[in-house]
Amino acid sequence: MSVETLIQTIPKAELHLHIEGTFEPELMFAIAQRNGIRLPYSSVEALHTAYNFSELQDFLNLYYQGMNVLLEEQDYYDLTWQYVEKIARQNVVHTEIFFDPQGHTSRGVAFETVLNGIFHALQEGERQFGISFGIILCFLRHLSEESALETLEIALPHQDKIIGIGLDSSEVGHPPAQFQKVFKRAHEAGFYCVAHAGEEGPPEYVRQALDLLNVARVDHGNRALEDPSLVQRLVDAQIPLTVCPLSNLKLCVVDDIAEHPIKTMLNHGLRVTLNSDDPAYFGGYVNENYLALANAQLIDENDIIQLAKNSFHSAFIDDARKKALLAKLDVAIVQRTDSA
Ligand code: HPA
Ligand code: ZN
Repeated sequence: MSVETLIQTIPKAELHLHIEGTFEPELMFAIAQRNGIRLPYSSVEALHTAYNFSELQDFLNLYYQGMNVLLEEQDYYDLTWQYVEKIARQNVVHTEIFFDPQGHTSRGVAFETVLNGIFHALQEGERQFGISFGIILCFLRHLSEESALETLEIALPHQDKIIGIGLDSSEVGHPPAQFQKVFKRAHEAGFYCVAHAGEEGPPEYVRQALDLLNVARVDHGNRALEDPSLVQRLVDAQIPLTVCPLSNLKLCVVDDIAEHPIKTMLNHGLRVTLNSDDPAYFGGYVNENYLALANAQLIDENDIIQLAKNSFHSAFIDDARKKALLAKLDVAIVQRTDSA
């Protein structure tokens, strides 16, 4: 069995995915047209060409511009449904997706419009394809903690649809320490908590996410590798890192995919998972992220299986679902050995 087939056939979870980052240019143009909004690009190709980033902020500027065309519940449904259909073809059996409500409510779109569109598409995905899911609300860290607190208040009546709270957007200059109050409230309300840290920000931001925000997972976490005692702590506590190789490449966190630190992470015994982050902008969904590392000879078959296992061990699911997904993975592994 080729490595491509192995990646394609094993069941896996995706744990770091911004739904607004799955907005493919074709769908963006279609929704812009139906909402009577003009995009500042003459064509899908022109938009594609603009996807050239030298850092996180370059990408975020386009990411916020893109999401501006989303207005109606149907828009959020269509966006999410396109992602669901994509991952169904990639054997993703569980997904935990981020959304950025402040990127929508600030334009006058109701929180419920956003959440219901996303939720109903994921529900339909569970019905049709058996893909379980969780929705994680992210606060935009370039905005104030006050704004995050207001957003949390709006979210509280919708806890049946939201499993967790995260922190994203421009990292440097917006340390986790600025969001202690809102994360404390989120913990008290029973949300799982995660945060982006160590993508562009220093190891100290990863420490703050652990110490001050009490996160259960760190999104990205690459720069934790600069601090051996922090690595040891992440290993000892088996705190998952949701790593996104193609994102790291496109945002110049690594200069070349061959320089991606995945092997170092695995060798340290870190609980690493592979994810696509913003696949429409970074050139690949979850399987393409596995494949990019395999093609660069950074991960072998055993690593691929370990990464898929890690994805289930790191997911916010109950023990019964975890057991079922790990059993599914075992079946796929046995079938691979049989067909070899
Ligand atoms: N980092 C920070 N914020 C984001 C990202 C990311 O990779 N993607 C979408 N918002
Ligand atoms: Zn992200």
